[in-house]
Parts: sequence; structure tokens; C-alpha cells
Amino acid sequence: MKIAANERSQVLAGRLSEIAGVPLVDTQFRVFPDGEQYLKMEGGDDTVIIVGAVTGDASFVQTLLMIDACGDAEKILVLPYMAYARQDKLFNEGEALSARVVMEALSAGVDRVITVNIHEKEVIGYAKAPATNVTVAPAIGDYIATLGLDNPLILGPDSGAAGFAADVAKSGPWESDHLFKTRLSGSEVEVRPKNLDAAGRDAVVVDDIISTGGTIATAAGMLSAQGARSVSAICAHGVFASGAYMRLKAAGILHVCSTDTYECGCSRISAAGVIAGELEKHLSF
Ligand code: R5P
Repeated sequence: MKIAANERSQVLAGRLSEIAGVPLVDTQFRVFPDGEQYLKMEGGDDTVIIVGAVTGDASFVQTLLMIDACGDAEKILVLPYMAYARQDKLFNEGEALSARVVMEALSAGVDRVITVNIHEKEVIGYAKAPATNVTVAPAIGDYIATLGLDNPLILGPDSGAAGFAADVAKSGPWESDHLFKTRLSGSEVEVRPKNLDAAGRDAVVVDDIISTGGTIATAAGMLSAQGARSVSAICAHGVFASGAYMRLKAAGILHVCSTDTYECGCSRISAAGVIAGELEKHLSF
């Protein structure tokens, strides 16, 4: 058994290799002058765990090439992050159902798929192989416990993230809630916790994705105005598009970090443990 990774999941694959005691496949990646990708995997095995965060079009193609390069091996595809997952329904006539397209393509040549906090769980239903979704909520909760915050209040930025916030809060004897938007006038909205008071609290806003940071920046500004002692922002997938990390730090957010499902400089939490746990249900290390 071996673990292979696309270029966007090298660190996570290395951590998984250490936890599971399964060696890594040496893979060469190249891009031709016309932009086409090439890869060559050295020394595969009968079973290959392919760890491939799909963060955009290049890593999508790279992951497809890796699946093909594994040949007849049993292939378990771990998708720590799957771009396009947010286009999980048709919002307007004539659109593509991108989440289905991407999931169908990636899962067609593999024996099993594991996703991590995929934006909507229904998307794994499009997989052409048995698929499960695991959550990094406990790993995020355990990390929050190390931050020295005083009885943190765990908040989802909207009702859709309330369950995630509740799961994170289970790591401590902490309260959780979600933010709720009230329209005060034609031009004014207020965002505040639905049931609890943030005044004097160390608020930690948790979400599946921080992309542009707009959702979190709005929430943080309102929480500070409501007297929160500090605001931190922690997510599963730290995309941090368009300078989002700097925007959030500039907005005074205390801790901004994410997991290694989308590898970046503030990936301080690892999804390797929960992925290893799921793999162990199907493979023996
Ligand atoms: C939305 O449904 C997601 O859960 C995130 O809240 C959203 O993708 C974050 O995007 P942004 O950082 O661009 O506000």
C-alpha cells in the first residue's frame, strides 16, 4: 500500500504517511510549454491512497492524471477540498451543476472516495464509487483549546454553519450559536448571535470555507461593535482568495487559521488524523 499526493496535498499526505506508517509514492510533476500537465509516478502498489485537494482547474487535471497513472491498483481517493462544491445546485437557468460534474469525473476511476467537510454532504451522492465525508470539527475544537481563550463562544456565521459550530464546541464545555442577520432599514443590517450575547466574550467564528473573507469580516466587525473581547476566525478550508488573510488580520481578528485540507501558511490544524481514522475502516495499515 502507498500514499500518493497531488501538489496541493503534499504536506497532508506526508502527515498521513507518518500516522498510518504507509510510504509515499515519489511523483514527478511537469508542465509543458503549452500549459499541459505531465506526471509520472515511481513505484506504485496494489493499493494506492491518492490525496488530492482540488483547489482549481490545474489540480483537478493533476488528480485525474494520478488516478490514471495508478493503473489497475485499488484506488482510494481522498478529496481534502473539492473546488466547485459550492455550485451544488442550479441557481439560475442554463447553469452547469459544477459539483456533480467534478465529483463524477474524479470518482469514475476509483474504488472509494473520502471527502472532508464538503460544502454540502449531498454532493458525495454524485460519486460513482462509495463515498463518505469526514469532519475536522473535533480537530478545530482541540486546537481552540490550546489558544488560551477564556470560555470561548463558538459561532457559525450563518444557520448553515450552526451544526459545525456545535460540533467544534464539543471539544470543551463551550457554548455555540450562529449569527443571525436582521435588516434594520433599507441600507442597514445587523448581524448578531441568534440566542447568546457576545459582549465580553472571546468569540470564535468557525466555518467550512474562508474564501474572500467577506462573511467573516462582516461578522467580526459586528461582534466587536457588540463588545466581544476578541474575535478569532477558524475554518476547515482556508482558500484566502484576493488577500483575505490580510483583510481579516487588518480587521483586528486575533487568530486566523485553517486546516491542511487546503494547504497554506496558516494551516495550523491537520486533517490527517480524521482521514486516517476513516481509511482504517476500509484498509488495514
Ligand atoms: C458559504 O455558504 C460558505 O459556508 C462560506 O461561508 C463562504 O463560502 C465563505 O465565503 P467568503 O469567505 O468569500 O465570504
